[in-house]
Amino acid sequence: MKYYAYHLALSEQDMEGAEVALIPGDPERCEMIAEAVGSFRTLAFHREFKSVLATCDEGRVLVVSSGIGGPSLAIAVEELARLGIRYFIRVGTCGAIQDDIGIGDIVISEGAIRMDGTSDHYAPSLYPACANFEVVQVLSEACMELGYDFHVGITCTSATFYPGQERYDTYTGYVIRNLQGTFQEWKELGVLNYEMEVATLFTIARVFHLQAGAVCGVLVNRNQEEEIDPEEVNTVELKLARVAARSAKMILKSYVKGGQ
Ligand code: URA
Repeated sequence: MKYYAYHLALSEQDMEGAEVALIPGDPERCEMIAEAVGSFRTLAFHREFKSVLATCDEGRVLVVSSGIGGPSLAIAVEELARLGIRYFIRVGTCGAIQDDIGIGDIVISEGAIRMDGTSDHYAPSLYPACANFEVVQVLSEACMELGYDFHVGITCTSATFYPGQERYDTYTGYVIRNLQGTFQEWKELGVLNYEMEVATLFTIARVFHLQAGAVCGVLVNRNQEEEIDPEEVNTVELKLARVAARSAKMILKSYVKGGQ
C-alpha cells in the first residue's frame, strides 16, 4: 500500500519526487519561501503543517511548516522522510546571545544544545545534534553571495520560549533554579542563539542517516532587549526566504540525483 502521511495530509504522488524540504515554523511563511524558489502550489494545510510544492529549473522543493517546537517538528520530519525527503533545512527565527550579532543577521547552526526534550526520544542525551557539513557550506555560500551578515556556530534549542531561554518578562517572573544563570553560561561558552527546533531536526536527521541544516534570522539581541519588534519580522523573513531558496537550488544542482 502506498504511504499516506496523516499529519501532513500528503501522499507520495503529491511529492512529485521532491527530495529537498525547507521548513519554517510558521505556516504563513511557506508561500514567501516557495515564491523565492519558483512557481508553486499549495498541496495541503492540516493543523500547523502547510505544504507548498515549488518548482524551479533545478527541480522540486517542498516548503512545509513545522509549527513551534520539537514535538510537531518531529512529526513533520518522520512523515517527510517516509515521503522521500533527504535534505531538511530549517528556516527559522531566533534570539541572539552574543554581543556582536545584530538584528537581521543570519545564524547558521553547526550544532545544537539539546534542551528541546523531543530529541531524547530518538537518541541518548550524549548523542550530539550536528548539521550536515555540506549543507552548512551551502547555506554559508548562499549568505555570502547575497551579501548578508552571517554567523556560523552553536545554537541552543530550548523546549520553551520563556524559562528555557531564561526570560524573566513572564507571568510569574520566576525561572527555576536549574535554568537560572544558563543565559550567561551559554554566552560564555560561545553559543550564538536561542530557538526551538534545530536540535530536534539535527538529531532525528542524523539517526535517520539523512541530511539537515538550519538557518535562522535574528529577531532580537537578548543582551540589548527582550521585546521582539514586529516590524523586523518581515525584513528578516524575506532575507531568510532568499537564503533558503538559493541553498535549496544549490543542493538540487550539486547533491540530488535527478536535480538538473
Ligand atoms: N525564537 C526563539 O525561540 N527565541 C527568540 O528569542 C526569538 C525567536
